[in-house]
Amino acid sequence: MSKVTVVGAGNVGATAADCIARLEITNEVVLVDIKENFAEGKALDQWETSPIHLFDTRVTGSTNDYTKTAGSDVVVITSGLPRKPGMSRDDLIQVNAGIVKSVTEQVVKYSPDAIIIVVSNPLDVMTYQAYLTAGFPSHRVMGMAGILDTARYRAFLASELNISPKDIQAVLMGGHGDTMVPLPRYTTVGGIPVTEMIDDDKLNAIVDRTKKGGGEIVKLLGTSAWYAPGAAAAQMVEAILKDSKRIFPVCAWLTGEYGLTDMYLGVPVKLGRNGIEEIIELQLNEEEKAMLNESAVAVREVLDVLKTL
Ligand code: LAC
Repeated sequence: MSKVTVVGAGNVGATAADCIARLEITNEVVLVDIKENFAEGKALDQWETSPIHLFDTRVTGSTNDYTKTAGSDVVVITSGLPRKPGMSRDDLIQVNAGIVKSVTEQVVKYSPDAIIIVVSNPLDVMTYQAYLTAGFPSHRVMGMAGILDTARYRAFLASELNISPKDIQAVLMGGHGDTMVPLPRYTTVGGIPVTEMIDDDKLNAIVDRTKKGGGEIVKLLGTSAWYAPGAAAAQMVEAILKDSKRIFPVCAWLTGEYGLTDMYLGVPVKLGRNGIEEIIELQLNEEEKAMLNESAVAVREVLDVLKTL
């Protein structure tokens, strides 16, 4: 028996719950929201798809009643405001830090053994906020960004190369912002280095588009993305509950890896039933290291803002 809670029944949370239910990786998904009846409505609508999609994961909703979440194995926190056009993810810090803190307090009260996946923005710093509040060991508190960012990168490459996205593997590191570091040297297409399949200019343009991938959606929709973020969070839940030991870029607590300490940042990790079971240290070249450090500096600046709140 296992149970997953998704906090926040907005677009990202509802999509994550929908994906998790369909994957049939847990017996129960509980969707929680502060808006009266909102989570109940979304959950009921999703449960009513079960005879069509053929899943038996029970999906229920609750208006802020965390007793319903008790004993969750994994909790996905999506609460907080999304970006509007012209905003950076960092502009959300003040409001979202308070929300993530109070949600995390409720989560840990009823699910003291849970693994927490943070999706709220600014991602790296909100993950730190949840870690501080939860008081859990760091392997049980992580952020979702790298799977989303690499998915965008892989989708763009698939379009450009006219190749199945299934065959594109990639690593991406750093913060979930415009300084993120896609790594072409670690990108393969059916096992072939991507650099043998595409010229530099096109690859650089795709790397650049990836970094601004979230903003591209905000410009189109007037709010931030949900299909890819929701699916990415669900994929992390799946790797954890199935103890699959999959390798994904995840926002993880660093204690000296890559020369970085006491901060959350995107790095490749092994995900299993214990959460982050290993942080993988790549042999980055000087240029890659410099880009990662630049991204760490950008995240630390936002972290400093959090400390003044
Ligand atoms: C994005 C938001 C969810 O990248 O951060 O789309």
